Amino acid sequence: MQLQQHISHPIFKLISESAADLGVEAYVIGGYVRDCILDRNTKDIDVVSTGKGIELAQSVAKRLGGAKISVFKRFGTAMINHKDLEVEFVGARKESYSEDSRKPAVEDGTIKDDQDRRDFTINAMAISLNAKTWGELVDPFNGVEDLKKGILKTPLEPAKTYSDDPLRMMRAIRFATQLDFQIEDDSFQAIYRHRERISIVSQERITDELNKIILAKVPSKGFKLLFNTGLLHLVFPKMAELFGVDIVNGKAHKDNFYHTLQVLDNISENTDNLWLRWAAIMHDIEKPITKRFHPKVGWTFHGHEDRGSRVVPEVFRDLKLPLNEKMKYVQKLVLLHLRPISLVQDVVTDSAVRRLLFEAGEDVDDLMTLCEADVTSKNDDRVKRYMKNFEIVRQKMKEVEGKDHVRNWQPPLSGEEIMQAFGIRPCREVGTIKDAIKDAIMDGKIENNRTAAINFMVEKGNELGLKVVEPLQPNS
Ligand code: CTP
Repeated sequence: MQLQQHISHPIFKLISESAADLGVEAYVIGGYVRDCILDRNTKDIDVVSTGKGIELAQSVAKRLGGAKISVFKRFGTAMINHKDLEVEFVGARKESYSEDSRKPAVEDGTIKDDQDRRDFTINAMAISLNAKTWGELVDPFNGVEDLKKGILKTPLEPAKTYSDDPLRMMRAIRFATQLDFQIEDDSFQAIYRHRERISIVSQERITDELNKIILAKVPSKGFKLLFNTGLLHLVFPKMAELFGVDIVNGKAHKDNFYHTLQVLDNISENTDNLWLRWAAIMHDIEKPITKRFHPKVGWTFHGHEDRGSRVVPEVFRDLKLPLNEKMKYVQKLVLLHLRPISLVQDVVTDSAVRRLLFEAGEDVDDLMTLCEADVTSKNDDRVKRYMKNFEIVRQKMKEVEGKDHVRNWQPPLSGEEIMQAFGIRPCREVGTIKDAIKDAIMDGKIENNRTAAINFMVEKGNELGLKVVEPLQPNS
């Protein structure tokens, strides 16, 4: 196979010339080759040479007129960043494991030695950058065929490839999900057998792969593979606990694992926002713990939204996800995920809508997206009814927001001002009055403006036995 068209960028010629000068062979290898053949966009280029990897990078950087280069001596690699390109150089290596040590002895190798050590046949293909064989595909494991068939297979015996680097078990599932490929059966069995080895991989790297799975077009595929290989139980046990159905008196509840996956797939059709997808994963996470059976009403999961929201920090900490505003956003959506549907079930009052707008703030649209994704009933009529009701809620929100502007609501009076008006020091009454003002606005008893708030404050203060000593100005 000739792949000259994929190495038309001038940098490849420079690499070729530098390699010839140094007396080594050079190849583009790995993800770049795979993605070229798949017609996927790719910027990161990996170059492997038969020795002298760092010198090759230095020579190329010089030819580029002094491009930025980072050298990692310990790993024998170097990286050039040039315009929007990122090129990594490494010398081909051959590893031999001795009986009494797990540490491989690394020595210079041939291109084939290097390909042997890679994760999947589709990631082990190389394109020659050498004058005589310029543009030829070097594909000893028939990766092209596996790309065509959509198969993930290891170059060597799977047990060896996975135990050399157990992160590859996650990578197999990630690629299967991103590319919609099948993991070859021997590989699948090997992952299942060696799953415990994932414990030697850092949480950050595991979570990177998990996030890539979550960002795929149909993330449920990856989670089913994680579950079926037993990896999910090790890397994200709380999610695996969602699996299963209990039956009491002939009444079953739905399987929360598959429901969650359906919600995740649904939401993924409407958003690329990783954190909104995380909210879908977490929305029912505490259903197992809150599950009760009542002979009269059947299965209930009271408070699962509240407990779910409170468990988010723990899960994020364990998975080394950020503990910042992204986490708070997920917590908020989990906490509020039942609210729009409860609005639908009751009469939609302005005050309930106002409160929801206030609590969800700028994330109210994302909340509605989550709620709509949460409708997974197989009954078409029911789905239609829910969607129509959500439309009514959205409409009502627009109306209420249009007149009351509570979406990014700020208290019209500060605690300081209340203290100043009544000549009091910080005390419980200040909070009581502040809350009363908020409730009055949310319930539509007073308008959402400063004048109305001041009048109400005076009234409320009087009720509590407070007298105004310094009237507040309506327009300060
Ligand atoms: N590789 C490997 N084992 C790993 C990681 C990487 O064998 N655990 C090899 C593969 O040949 C891979 C190449 O190193 O193609 C580059 O790895 P990386 O940049 O992590 O992934 P890509 O395959 O380029 O894919 P993506 O950019 O989607 O992560």
